[in-house]
Amino acid sequence: MLAHANLVIFQALCYDARALSGETMSPSSPPSIHDLSARVIENRDLGASHFLLTLQAEPVAAAACPGQFAMLRFAGRMDPLLPRPMSISDVLPADGSHPVLLQILHKVVGRGTQLLAALKPGERLQVLGPLGKPFSVPSPVAPGSQALMVAGGIGVAIFPFLVPMLQRAGLKPVLLFGARSSRELVRKDWFARQGVEVRTATEDGSEGAKGFVTTLLQEALGSSPEVAIVYACGPQAMLKAVGEMLIASGVSAQLSLESYMGCGIGACLGCVVKVRRDSGFAYARICVEGPTFPASEVLW
Ligand SMILES: Cc1cc2nc3c(=O)[nH]c(=O)nc-3n(C[C@H](O)[C@H](O)[C@H](O)COP(=O)(O)OP(=O)(O)OC[C@H]3O[C@@H](n4cnc5c(N)ncnc54)[C@H](O)[C@@H]3O)c2cc1C
Ligand code: FES
Repeated sequence: MLAHANLVIFQALCYDARALSGETMSPSSPPSIHDLSARVIENRDLGASHFLLTLQAEPVAAAACPGQFAMLRFAGRMDPLLPRPMSISDVLPADGSHPVLLQILHKVVGRGTQLLAALKPGERLQVLGPLGKPFSVPSPVAPGSQALMVAGGIGVAIFPFLVPMLQRAGLKPVLLFGARSSRELVRKDWFARQGVEVRTATEDGSEGAKGFVTTLLQEALGSSPEVAIVYACGPQAMLKAVGEMLIASGVSAQLSLESYMGCGIGACLGCVVKVRRDSGFAYARICVEGPTFPASEVLW
């Protein structure tokens, strides 16, 4: 394994066009946040209450980096009153060059996501973003190094946008994808088509290994000495288990945390998490200092 201390982590270039223009991001780069009314282009039913929503949201798409999220709001509605946070699953160019479309992969769990699922092409949705701290990518990487993406259920939503960034950095992306059943392993074929190696686990044993995604991670860490970095997104219990395994293994890891969010921009303090700091601990806002945190920082 490559030890965390041996890696220089850099804030990655987010999109080919931005890379070509020589633009780089750093944690101190000024945020470029937009609040706009986005037109629904498509809202594809993927089954098992999952939907892939494509929005025309050019400034947000153009400014976004993998790991960031957006706050989605139904303008003019009092119910739900608060916007809903959703990972920016991918950005797409409409004409092959400039990113103008934003993709959100969402699962219906309550009132807000029911309304999202009911959106039809041509309808509009208020989008605030991109928000939060993006993933970063290690550099330099040894030839053949792997990047593991560990997804629990709808946590997979965050990873499509990350794949090309990993590939550009010379890393081989491997998706470890756990869900309750095979029906919830949404978009796994998309990942395979991008050249990502996909390994699956289901709780009911309907596909892949029977059990949790942590079993796949344990196997991967034991058998792949070339793992350079691990990214994880999913339920809190999964992230805690994944974080503990990775700290023990010494492999660098970034966790994308979730929380209820009131504002998404650091104002309401509704999303704080306890993190390790030199002098002890501090509280960090998941919406601003996160949602991505090094596994070694999070105090569960
Ligand atoms: C940074 C971030 C990125 C996210 N990305 C995605 C994504 O890409 N796709 C996606 O489908 N969902 C994502 N979520 C979760 C999503 O925001 C919630 O599922 C959504 O807000 C629920 O709204 P609702 O009105 O449908 O449900 P509600 O009626 O508010 O709640 C329904 C049920 O879901 C539970 N719940 C709601 N929100 C959360 C939460 N944040 N954490 C844990 N449990 C919750 C509630 O306890 C309740 O049991 C993300 C959350 C965060 C913080
Ligand atoms: S959601 Fe308001 S501070 Fe994070």
